[in-house]
Amino acid sequence: MRWLVTGGVGFIGTNLVDHLLTGGHDVVVVDDLSRAGVEANAYFLEMQHAIKPEIIDITDRSLLERFLADQKPFDAIAHLAGQVSLVASIADPARDFEVNAEGTFNVLEYVRLRSPHTAVIGMSSNKLYGDLSFVRILEERTRYVAPDWPFGFDETLPLAFHGPYGCSKGAADQYLGDYARTFGLRTASLRQSSVYGPHQHPRSDQGWVAHLIGEALADRPIQLNGIGKQVRDLLHATDLACLFEALAVALAPGVVNQLNVGGGPDRSLSILELFAWLEERLGRPITYETGPERPSDQKVFVSNNLRVSALTGWAPRVTIDEGLNRLLVAASGGGPAKRRPR
Ligand SMILES: NC(=O)c1ccc[n+]([C@@H]2O[C@H](COP(=O)([O-])OP(=O)(O)OC[C@H]3O[C@@H](n4cnc5c(N)ncnc54)[C@H](O)[C@@H]3O)[C@@H](O)[C@H]2O)c1
Repeated sequence: MRWLVTGGVGFIGTNLVDHLLTGGHDVVVVDDLSRAGVEANAYFLEMQHAIKPEIIDITDRSLLERFLADQKPFDAIAHLAGQVSLVASIADPARDFEVNAEGTFNVLEYVRLRSPHTAVIGMSSNKLYGDLSFVRILEERTRYVAPDWPFGFDETLPLAFHGPYGCSKGAADQYLGDYARTFGLRTASLRQSSVYGPHQHPRSDQGWVAHLIGEALADRPIQLNGIGKQVRDLLHATDLACLFEALAVALAPGVVNQLNVGGGPDRSLSILELFAWLEERLGRPITYETGPERPSDQKVFVSNNLRVSALTGWAPRVTIDEGLNRLLVAASGGGPAKRRPR
């Protein structure tokens, strides 16, 4: 298959491009290199696969159109270019809107006008569901739980766009759905929870697993938002790459696919549980302080993958232990992480 991957040297993009090229696909990568650290991913892809990104800002519609006009048709577009942080969206809501809402719109317009058979898979967010303050939450020893949703949250949750990031991602999600409904395109919007894996350049406000592992390895004291019992389901980036491949085949014209995607209940983790896992591996305590919660932060988000699995047959395979172990090995730049005696 022939793929266009926007944001293709970002974290998820690098994992996807690596996966697709290894699997024999033809791939074109577009990125503006605006995310700090992604030059290292570009270098990795060049060394591994002799591929270089086209440096294009997807908000520059005429530049994007000129570039795409010279391209052979794509079978699928993975649209991953995005402004990824709620904090950054509050600092600069205009740019957040341009990148997430207009950028997605520009990609969809290209497909509507020039390439209507191309599948478009866009990345949305669990933040579309707001703070979930109406969900009954119980506090257990190491985590919050949502006892009324034992299989995770499905797509019946009401939408509640909180913060500029929630609004821009929400707009993109609705456009992706509506371009299938109104124009008969093949689209999907993945309401994605936490993704983790190699090639991520985390910050304190995005990429929490890699960020906390990095801080713990450096033995720096960690300041938490909240008491560390917040729960997310974790999806390994290689599992997500497999899902993109499956969706490119499964998407039917005119069908609205707004899909919750994540690791699911078997792959959920709280911050305190991550610390306990790290303490066992590193053989020393993790130093942290609790603090006030972030506004609109969900206490629990765990995806119910039923709808996406029914559509594609896909299910995550990498267990949390396996995924965290791989991450710890890479972050410590050494051999396999071993449990040390306490
Ligand atoms: N990582 C997660 O856990 C997660 C969760 C939910 C949703 N998402 C979404 O998935 C997508 C990919 O996330 P990621 O974690 O790989 O982020 P990332 O920041 O690593 O990658 C995004 C890439 O897009 C590029 N980019 C940003 N603005 C651009 C523009 N205007 N034009 C062209 N390229 C641009 C960046 O340089 C970067 O390489 C994003 O849309 C993000 O919001 C990620």
